[in-house]
Amino acid sequence: MKFMDKVELSSLLTIIGVIFLFSFSVAIVLFAPSRIDKSWTEPTSAYQVQMYEISDPHVYLSSLALGGQGVQYVNHLVEGLSLSAFQESATFKIKAPPDLEKYVTKQGDKTLKLTSRVLLLKPADSTAKGDFDTYELYDPKKKEAFSLGASDPILENWVDKDFVVLDKSAPFHEQGGVIFILNPQEYKFSPYTYGLQKAFRFDPNGTPIENLEELKSDKHGFISRKELIAYGEHVYAIEGCWYCHTDQTRTLVQDVVLNGSDSYPAPPSSANEYIYQKITFPGTKRNGPDLSRTGVKRPSRDWHKSHFWAPKTESKGSIMPSFRHFFDFDPRGTGRNPTLVPNLQFEAIFQYLMTKGTRITPPTQAWWLGKDPLKTKDIIEGRN
Ligand code: HEC
Repeated sequence: MKFMDKVELSSLLTIIGVIFLFSFSVAIVLFAPSRIDKSWTEPTSAYQVQMYEISDPHVYLSSLALGGQGVQYVNHLVEGLSLSAFQESATFKIKAPPDLEKYVTKQGDKTLKLTSRVLLLKPADSTAKGDFDTYELYDPKKKEAFSLGASDPILENWVDKDFVVLDKSAPFHEQGGVIFILNPQEYKFSPYTYGLQKAFRFDPNGTPIENLEELKSDKHGFISRKELIAYGEHVYAIEGCWYCHTDQTRTLVQDVVLNGSDSYPAPPSSANEYIYQKITFPGTKRNGPDLSRTGVKRPSRDWHKSHFWAPKTESKGSIMPSFRHFFDFDPRGTGRNPTLVPNLQFEAIFQYLMTKGTRITPPTQAWWLGKDPLKTKDIIEGRN
């Protein structure tokens, strides 16, 4: 009591105040996360989930095939998770045994047939007469398999209407913007020697890859797209791209309607778009165009190849420095190999850039944004 008598009222109030403020901030830290708008911390579209959680873990890339140009894309097909389509065209014919015939989409079929069974194509023994390639559809009798991916910048094909899933097992089949793999061809490889180094390459008559460990081993060096994107984020940081570029579409008219140089309208950036990133680079300075919609605006791998090699070839008068260390086989990226073969750093930064602007809406909308001015206007104004 004696002690309390000596304590001044003002200091007592101060102490109470400090305790109150402290517990208040602790309470906020504890309770605020549960009150946060879910769209900030969780994917808002099924497409976003597919890009990362379903589709991506099943795409593996390698740029390590010595002597070969560019990258090899390999799809890891998993029963029940990977949607595949086998579609014929004027130059592409598929032979199938009677029990698998129903999985083949014939030329002119209005509905694309999708399956989540593990089925693959292999070159047919006897090529049929005519000016087309013939492949055989078969069942590898495994729950997983590896298929050669098209070296397209857009790794996945997608559909949003006129398709039928023949064997539904995972719920994402039912959502818009379904991602599928078209005509997967079994990934077989054979070793060969290039100079003093031993390497491997895709070979339809070679041996199939057994499992994921083998694909990712030192020998083959495949890496998942997810890992590559994370590495791309690191490259973006250490190369200082953020010094000249922003990664945010502001709500201002010039950003939404004229994001970047050409007329590529885009919805303003939302927090949700960055949830898969460890570091975000909103940036403050625009010496170059904003990059938050690059994946939609500039999807061409070739464009980025020549732009990083020599920006002026793609953009007259560009002041962007060239990034020639993205093109060699030196893991430190310090070599000056003039062969224009992109290395892992290029693939990483490219895949990272390709995610920009593709996570906002199902691909139908993201795709239309910028491609068709009228549709774009409809989307922005909320019409269908
Ligand atoms: C010194 C400033 C500077 C730095 C650093 C820089 N850029 Fe650029 N960048 C520019 C300028 C200026 C342009 C516009 C002219 C052009 O297209 O080259 C540009 C254009 C681009 C474009 C085309 C964008 C569009 O919409 O047309 C991309 C993609 C790009 N830069 C990516 C990168 C990446 C990735 C890095 C880091 C590896 C980087 N830039 C580093 C200045 C820079």
